[in-house]
Amino acid sequence: MNQGEPAMPNPARTDEHEARIAGLLGRMTVEEKFGQLQQLAWAWNTGPGGGSTGAVEAAARKGLLGSVLNVVGAANSNAVQRIAVEESRLGIPLVFGLDVIHGFHTTFPIPLAQAAAFDPEVTRTDGEVSAAEARSNGIHWTFSPMVDVTHEPRWGRIAESPGEDPYLAARYAVAKVHGYQGDDLSAPDRVAACAKHFAAYGGAEGGRDYNTVDVSEQRLRNLYLPPFEAAVEAGAATVMAAFNTVSGVPAHANPRTLTGVLKDGWGFDGVVVSDWTGVQELIAHGSAADEAEAGRLALSAGVDLEMVSTTFVDHGPALLERGELSRERLDDAVARVLRLKLRLGLFERPYVEVSAEITAPGVGARAAAREVAGRCMVLLKNDGGALPLDATALRTLAVLGPFADSGDLLGTWALPGAPEAVPVLRSLREALPHAVVTHAPGVPADGSDVSGLPEAVATATAADAVVLVVGEPSEISGEAAVRSDLGLPGHQEELIRAVAATGTPCVVVLVGGRPLTIGDWADQVQAVVMAWHPGIEAGPAVADVLTGAVVPGGKLPVTFPRTVGQVPLYYNHERTGRPYDPAVPEEKYVSKYLDVQDGPRFPFGYGLSYTTFDLGEPALSRERISVRELREGATVEVTVRVRNTGDRDGEEVVQLYVRDPAASIVRPVRQLRGFQRVRLAAGEERAVRFTVGAEDIGFWTNDPAGVFTLEPGEIHLHTGNSSHARAHRTLRIT
Ligand code: NOJ
Repeated sequence: MNQGEPAMPNPARTDEHEARIAGLLGRMTVEEKFGQLQQLAWAWNTGPGGGSTGAVEAAARKGLLGSVLNVVGAANSNAVQRIAVEESRLGIPLVFGLDVIHGFHTTFPIPLAQAAAFDPEVTRTDGEVSAAEARSNGIHWTFSPMVDVTHEPRWGRIAESPGEDPYLAARYAVAKVHGYQGDDLSAPDRVAACAKHFAAYGGAEGGRDYNTVDVSEQRLRNLYLPPFEAAVEAGAATVMAAFNTVSGVPAHANPRTLTGVLKDGWGFDGVVVSDWTGVQELIAHGSAADEAEAGRLALSAGVDLEMVSTTFVDHGPALLERGELSRERLDDAVARVLRLKLRLGLFERPYVEVSAEITAPGVGARAAAREVAGRCMVLLKNDGGALPLDATALRTLAVLGPFADSGDLLGTWALPGAPEAVPVLRSLREALPHAVVTHAPGVPADGSDVSGLPEAVATATAADAVVLVVGEPSEISGEAAVRSDLGLPGHQEELIRAVAATGTPCVVVLVGGRPLTIGDWADQVQAVVMAWHPGIEAGPAVADVLTGAVVPGGKLPVTFPRTVGQVPLYYNHERTGRPYDPAVPEEKYVSKYLDVQDGPRFPFGYGLSYTTFDLGEPALSRERISVRELREGATVEVTVRVRNTGDRDGEEVVQLYVRDPAASIVRPVRQLRGFQRVRLAAGEERAVRFTVGAEDIGFWTNDPAGVFTLEPGEIHLHTGNSSHARAHRTLRIT
């Protein structure tokens, strides 16, 4: 990674912390040590002691609990904390975790949308706002960022991910970690980050959640691991294990990934937390015979803290007694949990200030969410300049579709109680005070009811222009929300066709948590905007883009296929011996489908603007460089000129891809290695520079020991404004 901000080091280890950890370890009983390795869920883990929270309180009182998830609110968290600090023998504070994925009160666009901004600053902003809101509510730790690269739009969790590219994902991982953590985890507006799910969770076969992942060494290291390594380098305080197997071994019981790669290889000294009951699930995986074995396998492999299931506390002491667990591993795991608490400043300030609790989205937070949502939107089609809407000429605008007057635009992982999104209808009415804005939903988001179609058609017919807001409800994206069909649910496509047939100019705003298959309906409308699930300020952000107050500049962080049968379809695929050649479409014995046009509907990196840009040929600072020079840190500069050729100001994402035409293992057809979103006034021209070094050119081999190689030969450096970037120069590696 070279184009981003400098990575901050791991939160520094301090002698003072290590001395306090050693002192505590010396005073703890074996049971108290295992207790620190237990995380229970508030209002979920039930047990004796009173109500659904009894088990949590009882364990905290006995000093047999390290962490709690899902306690929310300053008063609640202080009350539970008080039990641990004031009533347990050693008074070790608890660390409170929560899934603050893209917002706490202020829901930002889903992470996949944020990746579409091709601007890591947006995710840093989300991180900062979310951290301040969460910490003031007693949350110390978020289970985010999710940095799982994936080629699977069927997988619901693609909504939480940064998409299909490891370089883009790594840049986002760094920015999100910095946004959450800043440079002082003990600050009252910071939370610890958690890079998840380690590792290769995005590779689930068929996109079916929790499914098998069988991955070659080179894919693991070149595709799935880079964002994790970047997050760890940026100082991510914690990492979460994944539910899947990694080539036959469940990630929770995988010493090679958890200890070999993460802890020993990258020097990670933070906490590895299991996923929810992930340790116990080793039994269902068929890797452990019983709970004791599950606990032994996970702890020995490198899991430090067990979420929800209780195999460590229940069986740890006996395993230790029998010599089936090492004392060093136990102490190391406890030290990691204590180190996190020390870094968070919990021993000094275990409680939060109730009077400083943020109880609702602030004006500034809302403004940030609105700006970010606008930056995430991707203009997929805009025939004849249908957008932006001409506010002066528009007398009647019909705003149709099941999501037009809907607050269900927050997306997956919006926290319970988070305010609903501002509906698009309301915001368009505010943005177009001189127009009559009419509305009819037409059809519901799903189901078979088409009784509203005639009213929608009549409303469209009577209008000068139509905005159709259609897509996926939040509940069918996210965890365990897998689809085998990527089309618009219910009768929404029929609605679009019927409305388009009226002849009224029609703009489609798509909402959703994944790439959707965009059928022939797109040929019948004038413009299509991918708005994703835009979050709390959905309406204002959509209105900003439709009226031109914001010029769209987002790009797709994931390939949009033509049909679900093409999946997996991704730009950075490895080369084949028989590639499809568009110049010879009749050739049969090539890698293609018989019944669908080759290639994606929209490629990775694609997105239009209300203005146009011209990109020149790339120029290199040097045309040869040796392997030795690269190893010593030498770099090559790639410069490309970009000009705004239209009559509006706008932003273009200039992208750099590398291609290795001949290597010891087959390399992807191209790989993103740089991007810059640049703002250019109408007519303005600018040079954009990228720096290419060893890590952009080399690759990990299939050697299980982890070998990163640089090979002599040619490297093609492509620049452009999508993954179809054609212009290139050759760099010779000697
Ligand atoms: C399961 C999910 O896989 C994980 O991402 C999340 O952090 C935990 N549940 C806790 O809610």
